[in-house]
Amino acid sequence: MTPVIPLADPLPQPAPAWLLWALLQLTFFLHLLAMNVVLGGSILALHWRLSRRTDSATPRAEVVAAFARALPVAVAAAVTFGVAPLLFVQVLYGRVFFTSSILMAWWWLAVVPLVILAYSGAYLLAFRGESLGPRARHVAVGITVLFAAVAFLYTSNVTRSLRPETFVDVSRQGGTGLVLNLGDPTFWPRYLHMLFGAVAVASLAAALFGLIRRRRQPEMASWVMRKATLMFGVATAVNIFVGMWFLLAQPKEILIRLVGGDTWAMTLLALGILFGIATGGFALLALGAKNAVRATWAQVAILLPTLIVMVLLRDQLRQLVLKGAGFEHPGWVDPQWGPLAIFALLLVGAIATIAWMARALARGVPAGGAVSRH
Ligand code: HEM
Repeated sequence: MTPVIPLADPLPQPAPAWLLWALLQLTFFLHLLAMNVVLGGSILALHWRLSRRTDSATPRAEVVAAFARALPVAVAAAVTFGVAPLLFVQVLYGRVFFTSSILMAWWWLAVVPLVILAYSGAYLLAFRGESLGPRARHVAVGITVLFAAVAFLYTSNVTRSLRPETFVDVSRQGGTGLVLNLGDPTFWPRYLHMLFGAVAVASLAAALFGLIRRRRQPEMASWVMRKATLMFGVATAVNIFVGMWFLLAQPKEILIRLVGGDTWAMTLLALGILFGIATGGFALLALGAKNAVRATWAQVAILLPTLIVMVLLRDQLRQLVLKGAGFEHPGWVDPQWGPLAIFALLLVGAIATIAWMARALARGVPAGGAVSRH
């Protein structure tokens, strides 16, 4: 069936397409980092919170409490850095992104209350975690499920926006605004790839936290660096297979382009696979390394380019799919340099502020100093 893509608005693009594209990649990368700490960190902290092992109870409780204190800041960063790519996606791909959002309208609108609910839960744990007692576990389960649900809805929307050929059929199903994209073969591998990736990135963030605290809390630091490195390795190893599943689930013509038809896409894919395997290998080596500090930095050094390649590959996939569907950016450009300059200034300010907050949190001493075991 010929894809039906809504016509472009009769408005000029506010900046050249290459600049909007670059800003989308940059801001999505920042969103990815913060969102991974939120989502993967919630999963990881829940796993440690629910663990019944008694031998490592104290360092585990210290790490879980530190994560609870950091979560509101991470959510603020994920939301702030989420708004920016949302703007650029809407300018560049609004015609498919708005349509996919409308087809799942109720679910899409539900993202806002779900994030608010999870954010409130994060504040509850951060400021009232001690007094909640065993109920803190229920709150932590709720927060994790909510963040995983938000990610689920994002994946549904993003994957639907890449299937313009299904738009008409889905809207003919009654226009309920309740249709998720679960039948898409790429949905589950993409969602799982995001989830395992988030756990890997959050694990490395936990290892870095241990590294920063190694002089002040040596027992906690050595525990978290060991455990986080293990989790990083496991999540990355699983993701190599999930990534392959994601690749093979692509429509045949896209797969052909990715593995040979398009040089840039092929290069990114090859780099992505190489970096992915190297990241898993580094994690294995780090497990046996004598110098945990160097091993952690080595993992950071390999993870960063891996993430950058993955973000570019994700974008390349979108470009290939939409080009195949006949999508083109409007040629009418009337740059608004003033608002763009203000945006650039505020972006630098936001990055600096959040980096400062994250550093202060990692180095700071908890008020009261007490640690909850719940
Ligand atoms: C805090 C909870 C959040 C979580 C767990 C989360 C998770 C995700 C995930 C997993 C994706 C990737 C989907 C995919 O490619 O399959 C994504 C993409 C995206 N998120 Fe978030 N997100 C959150 C909050 C937000 C908020 C509040 C905004 C905006 C206000 C936002 C804006 C975006 C945008 C625009 C994309 C897609 C960018 C693109 O397609 O290039 N996110 N998010």
